[in-house]
Amino acid sequence: MRSAESSSPIGHDGPRRGHDGPHLDHDGWLLGYAPMDRLHEEFLALVHALAQAPEHAVAAALDALALNARAHFGAEDQWMAASAFPARACHIDEHAAVMRSIEGVQRRVARADFGAARPLADALLQWFPGHADYLDSALAHWLCKQRLGGAPIVLRRRIEPFVAPAAG
Ligand SMILES: [Fe+2]
Ligand SMILES: [Fe+2]
Repeated sequence: MRSAESSSPIGHDGPRRGHDGPHLDHDGWLLGYAPMDRLHEEFLALVHALAQAPEHAVAAALDALALNARAHFGAEDQWMAASAFPARACHIDEHAAVMRSIEGVQRRVARADFGAARPLADALLQWFPGHADYLDSALAHWLCKQRLGGAPIVLRRRIEPFVAPAAG
């Protein structure tokens, strides 16, 4: 993770362009623990809204995202603590690092550096699938197993990827 106010806040090697990736148009991020899935749906909607916000709407979109991220990460941190989830430190640390990045961009936007918002949104879209796959999914399994006595069952639609027709 780079510093909170670097141009690439989540620390990936470059922003991914386009917002049609495996996120809102895809069920792949559903993990089977409904309260977490709801938080993720809201989080992704707000990240997409930030990515598409015109300059005059960037500050409000970023504030809404920060509020949501604080609730989202706080809920997961609390679930981990309350259920004695093993090896939770790196998951909690990752939430804190992402929150610092968001807050760093909030400070830049407060100084009218609106261009800082789009790289943040891109970085969050790049970061989220891996975080959900490796950290959130383990927590969802743990919580479902504790509460229901079994691993979550996830029903996903089968969505074929779009393949552009060959030219000519
Ligand atoms: Fe999450
Ligand atoms: Fe998480």
